[in-house]
Amino acid sequence: MPRASQSFSVVLGVLFLAATTQAKSTAQAPQRPGFVRLDRVTASRPLPNGIEIHSGPAVLQITALRDDVLRMRVGPAGQLPEDASWAVLPTARTSSVNVTQETSNGTTGFKTAKLRIAIHRDPLEIRITDLDGHVIAEQFPDRPIEYHGAAFRVYMRSPFDEHYFGLGDKPGPLDRRNEAFNDWNTDAFGWQESTDPIYKSIPWFLTFHQGVAAGIFLDNTWRASFDFNKEYRDAYSFGSENGPLDCYIVYGPEPKSVVQSWTWLTGTTPMPPLWAFGYQQSRYSYYPEAEVRRIAARLRSEHIPADVIWLDIDFQLKNRPFTVDPERFPTFDQMIKDLRAQHLRTVVITDLHIADLPNSGYKPYDEGAAGDHFVKNPDGSTYVGVVWPGKAVFPDFTHQPSREWWGTLYADFVAKGVAGFWNDMNEPAIFEVPSKTMPDNVQHRIKEPGFASRNANHLEIHNVFGMQNTRGTYEGLLKLQPDNRAFVMTRASYAGGHRYAATWTGDNSATWNHLRQTIPQLLNLGLSGFSMAGADVGGFAGSPQPELLTRWLELAAFQPIDRDHTAKGTNPQEPWENGTPEDLDLRRHYIEERYRLLPYIYTTAEEMSRTGVPIMRPLFLEFPNAASGQQAVDPTIDNEFLFGPDLLVAQGQYPDEVDDLFVSLPPGGWFDYWSGARIDGTGSRRNIDNSVSPPTGVHLHRSLATLPVFARAGAIVPQQPLVQSTEEKPEGPLTLRVYPPDAFNQDCKGSIYVDDGTTFAFRNNAFHRENFTCRLTPQGLIVAVTAAEGTYPPWWKLLSVEVYGAGKAAAEASYSALDGSGSANLSTSYDPEHHRITALVPDNGKGVELKLSY
Ligand code: NOJ
Repeated sequence: MPRASQSFSVVLGVLFLAATTQAKSTAQAPQRPGFVRLDRVTASRPLPNGIEIHSGPAVLQITALRDDVLRMRVGPAGQLPEDASWAVLPTARTSSVNVTQETSNGTTGFKTAKLRIAIHRDPLEIRITDLDGHVIAEQFPDRPIEYHGAAFRVYMRSPFDEHYFGLGDKPGPLDRRNEAFNDWNTDAFGWQESTDPIYKSIPWFLTFHQGVAAGIFLDNTWRASFDFNKEYRDAYSFGSENGPLDCYIVYGPEPKSVVQSWTWLTGTTPMPPLWAFGYQQSRYSYYPEAEVRRIAARLRSEHIPADVIWLDIDFQLKNRPFTVDPERFPTFDQMIKDLRAQHLRTVVITDLHIADLPNSGYKPYDEGAAGDHFVKNPDGSTYVGVVWPGKAVFPDFTHQPSREWWGTLYADFVAKGVAGFWNDMNEPAIFEVPSKTMPDNVQHRIKEPGFASRNANHLEIHNVFGMQNTRGTYEGLLKLQPDNRAFVMTRASYAGGHRYAATWTGDNSATWNHLRQTIPQLLNLGLSGFSMAGADVGGFAGSPQPELLTRWLELAAFQPIDRDHTAKGTNPQEPWENGTPEDLDLRRHYIEERYRLLPYIYTTAEEMSRTGVPIMRPLFLEFPNAASGQQAVDPTIDNEFLFGPDLLVAQGQYPDEVDDLFVSLPPGGWFDYWSGARIDGTGSRRNIDNSVSPPTGVHLHRSLATLPVFARAGAIVPQQPLVQSTEEKPEGPLTLRVYPPDAFNQDCKGSIYVDDGTTFAFRNNAFHRENFTCRLTPQGLIVAVTAAEGTYPPWWKLLSVEVYGAGKAAAEASYSALDGSGSANLSTSYDPEHHRITALVPDNGKGVELKLSY
């Protein structure tokens, strides 16, 4: 772009008055009705926090919410769109920082402490750079913002080495480059890698270019679309058929800062209950009651650690939400209690479609009709669509009183002790119509603080309907049990929906490519806010081969939600089914490893809930510098991921292949998680500039028994003794798996966070956090544990410190408590098979140091 190299004189701090530019017009705009092209600046006005631009009849405002977060809004007829959002928190949306105006001959704009916004006047082209000149977003030449009636589109330049991530669980590779997508929440049973759209609309994506990350959010609930390098090789674009052009631009430069800012904009994921990280057993559907009890008993008799059993629609009377079939479940309430006594919680499905049953004593219908809570046809009659219960009506979730009423429907199940709720079919899915959803002209009411109260047709509400459904559920549950962490699972959602629900990737298939798909889908969901996510383990549609089920259960042990679920009519898919005794042993072994890792998983979950950094992370999120310049880490890798900060899980590109596997490892040392051995890197790589990078990975033989997992050198990973459920208190010491760094000056750290696992008492300091460090010394290693924060009593009194990568036994070991309460020499043990020295150290929560020489 020629202007990029033009020198312009910058006038700092000068405010200028609205002025009509004398610029010549570029292309002659066609005079079609409703056609507006923002092709040149005709007037501009500085704002304390940004700038307002006029281009003919259109107005465009760019404001700074923070130095690193901008908002751009456009009104084609001179009026900005309504300042309201389902996604962005009011505190973020109304934030503002003062900016410094900048102008030159050809451009006008402003700068913040982190970004420079230069708007070329004629043609109108917006360019956002950081203060180092790195381009964050830049309009594509000759494709100004255009409106065709209500539809609009924005084109941005796309350097050849820029990569794109996010947009929720849309199938396909991790990197969205060379892909195009639509947002229209869709019940997509049996979706495949090329299916689009599927269940969720999260119009937020990250850009990553030469180590610099940014994010763009188009806050528009209508049918929207995204094109990455399809229409133009060197452009991406986004737009919608209607609704506001209201977008947010977030600067990193670290990718982690971008996801943290996404959380600042749209809110955090509430701290999940500990049991949500246990193994969860589901199918469509377990019934009758005896079958549920049989599954529970078998989980326990097979010693498969487990926390949750899910009840799908067949527990209900004729699939009617909020009912129980009394014949199939004669002692439902007692069953919930009995499961709980076996340390199993129950999650039940409560779809949003309410059976259309006037005068039948069906409370959800009667109350909803009496309260005028259902969405309507344009003629004012109640809209009726066919779903699982047959004819059904639908609560008006964007109408606050109706949403609040929906929340009250949970009272009975909460009283029975049901632990969590599943909001499925909330795209909303409608049977027997080609569109698979409500007609476009169904009428919703918007009654919501911050929004003007009005009616809206379905086209505007469709993509946000599922999110508001889960909001009603979540907020209702909190009202019913204010001190209980509510667990809601949703299929459909919109940006920000992670505030209310966890999610899963819908009706996948029991095939190898779907096992492969789980990684990029869950990674992109995590980058889009939905860290609490899983995919149906074993696949939903169809029945997996035994090996596929085994490998799926192995991989899912290292994913945020581990729920085995399958469709009606498929073979049984519990871990003891469909395989040899060896398969069962492997499946159990991996679930057990997940339970041993619960301290690490829960600590990572707490970080996720506090900061927005996802539990499951693409390599570039942890190693952004390595992913820039030298490309030592390929940012597009989507068959590997980090589970938490320190464990790298690698599945072959094609998990059904049997030949050797090359695993890329980011720079820095790595350990084989299973053997404890230090990895000697192999596999030098030739770079684009023909230079050769040092070894960046390792060649492995594949085996069904081993999912390759690696621990980062310089990590301390907490583990607990095996339990059969999160309800059980672990017996014994807390294990610290210490993976020493490669060099004296390198970081080595970890932490543990525990609390009661179910309430919000942690907000009042009832948690326990210890931070760990380690340091290489000429003699060996020092492991230090900080004094604990918080008032929650931990379950351990001893630490079992395991130092990996050890070639021989320790010569000496000693500990000293930081509060002076004790110090002593310690005996240690050495396990050559696992390259491990182990020392038992008392931990009184006041801090302790362990010195090892070897
Ligand atoms: C569709 C969901 O995606 C699936 O998981 C569920 O089993 C069925 N609905 C029946 O409720």
